[in-house]
Amino acid sequence: MKMLVALLSLLALTNAIHLNGEEGDGQCNYVNLTLEPRPHSVSILEFGAVGDGKTLNTLAFQNAIFYLKSFADKGGAQLYVPPGRWLTASFNLTSHLTLFLEKGATILGSQDPSHWEIVDPLPSYGRGLELPGGRYRSLINGYELEDVVITGDNGTIDGQGRVWWDWFSSHSLNYSRPHLVEIVDSQYVVVSNLTFLNAPAYNIHPVYCSDVHIQNISVSTPPDAPHTVGIVPDSSENVCIEDCIISVGFDAIALKSGWDEYGISYGRPTKKVHIREVYLQSSSGSTIAFGSEMSGGISSVQVDHVHLYNSYSGVEFRTTKGRGGYIKRVTISDILMKNVYKAFSASGQCGAHPDDKFDPNALPVLDDITLQDVIGTNITIAGNFTGIQESPFTSICLSNITLSSNSGSPATWVCSNVSGSSESVFPEPCPDLENTYSYSSSACFSSTSNGKSAAL
Ligand SMILES: *[C@@H]1O[C@H](CO)[C@@H](O)[C@H](O)[C@H]1NC(C)=O
Ligand SMILES: *[C@@H]1O[C@H](CO)[C@@H](O)[C@H](O)[C@H]1NC(C)=O
Ligand SMILES: *[C@@H]1O[C@H](CO)[C@@H](O)[C@H](O)[C@H]1NC(C)=O
Ligand SMILES: *[C@@H]1O[C@H](CO)[C@@H](O)[C@H](O)[C@H]1NC(C)=O
Ligand SMILES: *[C@@H]1O[C@H](CO)[C@@H](O)[C@H](O)[C@H]1NC(C)=O
Ligand SMILES: *[C@@H]1O[C@H](CO)[C@@H](O)[C@H](O)[C@H]1NC(C)=O
Ligand SMILES: *[C@@H]1O[C@H](CO)[C@@H](O)[C@H](O)[C@H]1NC(C)=O
Ligand SMILES: *[C@@H]1O[C@H](CO)[C@@H](O)[C@H](O)[C@H]1NC(C)=O
Ligand SMILES: *[C@@H]1O[C@H](CO)[C@@H](O)[C@H](O)[C@H]1NC(C)=O
Ligand SMILES: *[C@@H]1O[C@H](CO)[C@@H](O)[C@H](O)[C@H]1NC(C)=O
Repeated sequence: MKMLVALLSLLALTNAIHLNGEEGDGQCNYVNLTLEPRPHSVSILEFGAVGDGKTLNTLAFQNAIFYLKSFADKGGAQLYVPPGRWLTASFNLTSHLTLFLEKGATILGSQDPSHWEIVDPLPSYGRGLELPGGRYRSLINGYELEDVVITGDNGTIDGQGRVWWDWFSSHSLNYSRPHLVEIVDSQYVVVSNLTFLNAPAYNIHPVYCSDVHIQNISVSTPPDAPHTVGIVPDSSENVCIEDCIISVGFDAIALKSGWDEYGISYGRPTKKVHIREVYLQSSSGSTIAFGSEMSGGISSVQVDHVHLYNSYSGVEFRTTKGRGGYIKRVTISDILMKNVYKAFSASGQCGAHPDDKFDPNALPVLDDITLQDVIGTNITIAGNFTGIQESPFTSICLSNITLSSNSGSPATWVCSNVSGSSESVFPEPCPDLENTYSYSSSACFSSTSNGKSAAL
């Protein structure tokens, strides 16, 4: 048995990360990581794990990874998880590690809150997202790592979140819910070729990270799973998300960077993010969301070739007074939308405050946002751009957008405290965004021939 396992682990050998050159065609900008095989591999079975779906394997995972730490300076190592149902609570990854889930392997999150440690809030949030104070540690964690890979042959990470959703909905949580994967302060991180199911809250949360590549994963929680979110790049840079299918209760992909005074003083932006070739669905949130926690700033984001469907909202920019920070240099292009209630929105009155110490005069900036090459069918509200009187949204640039509704009347636009311009947009946008040849339109369309590279 042990030999068979060793053989299987050898066959499944993956993959140290190496960083290559800059951007190219048909590939992610900002990130070009290639994987090289790890020279060592062990199976979780060698640490006494039992894949019966009932035995708690937290210690087996912790011991295996402790053992694999010693290979960090020898090219790194792989932890191989064979077919089976592997129940566990939190464990930490280590640098130069590949966690590989074989086809038929499922890591199951424990449903017993006493198995879950409480950890301090993130410094850029100052408190748990859902409740003041600490929060449950995530299922799979990384702290100050480099070169970590979570991958497999379509293995599954299943958070068994139903109990957490029920506690959340009945207000019986004592701390904010855990995420499935949280990687903090790390670089060269790959998550690929896996299925994520039933996250208690977020699925994948890279925070204070750089060089993160999330590729070819499928993420789903039921439509009624409250505030479950797919991927959350948070105060991180050089992030690529591609070839993914995400269908969740709330936001599919949400970009964030900290909360009010905590995020302002931590001061770590999310920047250089490329999202491409993804299929996104969000039953009560937005398929692509910016904020509302954006106090460290969000900039240089490119989203292209995405399908957004059967959702409440397509692309949403959220902020509020007290956030400070900015969202700027964002280009969203080549979008197909279907059965989306509200295609685009930008709101300056969205989101709560962590406590009453926020500075109401910390005004957020929303500037230089390009939305282009969009076809939407069965859209009810085309766009709702509601800015902040003291800090209006500027340079909202719309180009080549066609949105149709199912009812007889066309999709509608709503605007206030916003400026920008548009060309080839149907139905006609609100007057604030209509002027095509004015000074403000040149901010949109003159600096480059097609506006596309303006955001990069
Ligand atoms: C990514 O890195 C590989 C390996 O070094 C290289 O062959 C390829 O050209 C790079 N791609 C881009 C777009 O830079
Ligand atoms: C996981 O890492 C955190 C942060 O370094 C540490 O506090 C915690 O004790 C670690 N847990 C285990 C089981 O190693
Ligand atoms: C995506 O992952 C599946 C297994 O989950 C694999 O069969 C397929 O080859 C992968 N595709 C790419 C483009 O990596
Ligand atoms: C991956 O696994 C999930 C269930 O774990 C399954 O629904 C899906 O069809 C699989 N995808 C591929 C490409 O094998
Ligand atoms: C919250 O704390 C109370 C009182 O200690 C406890 O009865 C309850 O089970 C806890 N809730 C959860 C979800 O752990
Ligand atoms: C995903 O799986 C495919 C098929 O096995 C493999 O070719 C590819 O390198 C894997 N990608 C990553 C990023 O692990
Ligand atoms: C149109 O989109 C709405 C969501 O806004 C959805 O409820 C409805 O079923 C869709 N209609 C059709 C015919 O698909
Ligand atoms: C537009 O957004 C604002 C602020 O988020 C909201 O108050 C208003 O009700 C929305 N209007 C429509 C028609 O949805
Ligand atoms: C307008 O957008 C559509 C859909 O993305 C695209 O097929 C078409 O080429 C665009 N037209 C121009 C003139 O760029
Ligand atoms: C800006 O918003 C305020 C409400 O916050 C509203 O009273 C005012 O009319 C708006 N200004 C414009 C120009 O729409």
